[in-house]
Amino acid sequence: MKTKEIKTRELNAGKFIKEKIEEISKTVGSNSAITALSGGVDSSTATLLGHKALGEKLKVVFIDNGLMRENEPQKVASMFEELGILVEIIDAKKQFFNALKGVTDPEQKREVVTRTFYKKIFAKLVRESGAKCLLQGTILTDIEETIAGIKRQHNVFEQLGIDPEKAFGYKIIEPLRQLRKDGVRKIAKVLGLPKSIYERMPFPGPALAARIIGEVTPERIKIIRKATAIVEEELKETGAFQYLAILHHDRVTGIRNRKRDFGLQIEIRCWESVDARTAAPTRLPYDILETLAKRMTNEVPGVVSVTYNITSKPPSTMEAI
Ligand code: XMP
Repeated sequence: MKTKEIKTRELNAGKFIKEKIEEISKTVGSNSAITALSGGVDSSTATLLGHKALGEKLKVVFIDNGLMRENEPQKVASMFEELGILVEIIDAKKQFFNALKGVTDPEQKREVVTRTFYKKIFAKLVRESGAKCLLQGTILTDIEETIAGIKRQHNVFEQLGIDPEKAFGYKIIEPLRQLRKDGVRKIAKVLGLPKSIYERMPFPGPALAARIIGEVTPERIKIIRKATAIVEEELKETGAFQYLAILHHDRVTGIRNRKRDFGLQIEIRCWESVDARTAAPTRLPYDILETLAKRMTNEVPGVVSVTYNITSKPPSTMEAI
């Protein structure tokens, strides 16, 4: 089934919100639903729409998969508590790291994250709570890239011929599936979400696992988490669409304390884009690049090489895997 796009310039936010609230209420009916909040603009918008439609009948959970940025679960939960929405943090770190052990193939990594999320964690949560539906913030770009076989986005099923009700035991509601990122931002703003959320930089579903080439382990996540914090601090004033760090699998020879150090490589990417379908690297000033190189090598243990990506999408993609 083809999803019909609503172009951002033609999007009537008030009408869209009213229609989606009605649609969610109708689909859930007298049952209850769960929403998987990640704190990104898409899942935050889907959560607020769901909250407006269902109130107490919507359970909001944040799955701490161990792959998120520094203090992300606590930050997101307190942001939503300020909006009057209670968020339960589910500690699923062990399940994700166990499932990711030894996995190096990019698509397999995505598949493992998906399976752990929907089949292990959510199927159990839904069963225990008695909810019949999962509400989530899938957008059109996620669907298109999955169908095109570019990347298996972790939240796309129906378009791949997977019936979530049969596969996982619950229905999936996707109120944002006809929109692109800029359309979602428009809805989020009208819904009254804070600027810190509606202007929030995109972040991938598989989280920092999408930024590690090779095996994802707690130790390697620690490295990429620190590198991500540095990139986000240093590039926040650029106004770029998205910026990130990637941990490479290959090591290179460096020098530390005047001795050979066969160390780690971090690649930095900073993107100009409107809707993430195409993107170009930001022409960052050289002094910012130098600061990044200094901080990465001084503050992230084991890093001896820092590079900046100068390739556009396509042929590159924005994340590493
Ligand atoms: P790529 O790497 O495909 O990224 O060029 C395009 C945009 O999508 C984000 N991204 C994801 N978002 N689930 C998501 O919700 C995913 O599995 C996923 N993978 C990539 C990426 O951060 C960028 O904004």
